[in-house]
Amino acid sequence: MEYLTHRGEEIPFIGFGTYRLGENETAAELETLRYGVDKLGMTLMDTAEMYGSGLSEEILGTFIKDFGRERLFIVDKILPYNAEKGLYKQCCMRSLKRLGTDHIDLYLLHWRGNVKLQDMVDNMEELVSLGLIRHWGVSNFDTHEMQALFACKNGQNCFCDQILYNLSERGAEYDLIPWCKAHDVLVMAYSPLCNSHYARKAVTNDALVSGIAENEGKTPESLMLSFVVRNRDIITVFKTSSTAHLRGNMQNVFDPITDEHMSLLSKKYEPPREKYPLEKI
Ligand SMILES: NC(=O)c1ccc[n+]([C@@H]2O[C@H](COP(=O)([O-])OP(=O)(O)OC[C@H]3O[C@@H](n4cnc5c(N)ncnc54)[C@H](OP(=O)(O)O)[C@@H]3O)[C@@H](O)[C@H]2O)c1
Repeated sequence: MEYLTHRGEEIPFIGFGTYRLGENETAAELETLRYGVDKLGMTLMDTAEMYGSGLSEEILGTFIKDFGRERLFIVDKILPYNAEKGLYKQCCMRSLKRLGTDHIDLYLLHWRGNVKLQDMVDNMEELVSLGLIRHWGVSNFDTHEMQALFACKNGQNCFCDQILYNLSERGAEYDLIPWCKAHDVLVMAYSPLCNSHYARKAVTNDALVSGIAENEGKTPESLMLSFVVRNRDIITVFKTSSTAHLRGNMQNVFDPITDEHMSLLSKKYEPPREKYPLEKI
């Protein structure tokens, strides 16, 4: 594993997503998590109260109970619906209970919704002061929303923006990723493997992608992950419940993509030429 240091925290470039965790056999899912943490150093786990209405947090809780809490960096998210009602502390406590831990490392507002930003910052800061979370951040915030957040008192304490970003969704490169970099906000890419079966297959079955992957000793999936972390300034989380998938996805993932291959990829999967709204899932 390679690590990025952000605001004093050493964080793995690649971690586990847990959306739809619980849909396969739990023992196999837990074994995959253990393999990823033990053998590959994937100590960052991303979850949300929304995923399976708490089931993903519960399965992570089972993992934490068995594996131990210390080495893990847990990311969790509050729903805007709950934040709008001011239920920060209640939701955080419920998530902590399901996870079986006394703190969350990074707590995110899942998406913008109609949440009052200053209210969100104040509540998140309170959770930090209570020791329930160590850092707070946001998800699915576009550039103008980050600017509004930074206009709030203590808004600059936002640790991270978790966004959709992958080889076929490069819109954030236009101004959001540069803005975050300039303002010391960590970008965490979600759905680096395109989330859905059909969207992923459209990329992994592409002869250009599979040819480059083969040439670089990667699988199409590990090439997709290499693409996201290529500049070593963005971290990412992907989901798998299969140890076989996990091994393939991490194959030579930190070997650089050659300039020649990168420019071939960019001809087909073009970087944005103009601003368009941040895509979300
Ligand atoms: N903040 C947000 O709004 C937001 C939105 C979406 C996601 N997220 C987070 O980001 C994480 C990752 O995104 P994601 O789950 O949407 O999508 P993803 O990680 O891009 O793709 C996950 C899917 O790819 C499959 N997969 C993985 N490796 C594979 C392989 N080698 N061969 C075939 N299929 C493979 C997985 O199935 P198998 O389990 O069968 O391998 C799973 O169905 C989520 O789990 C969640 O934690 C956040």
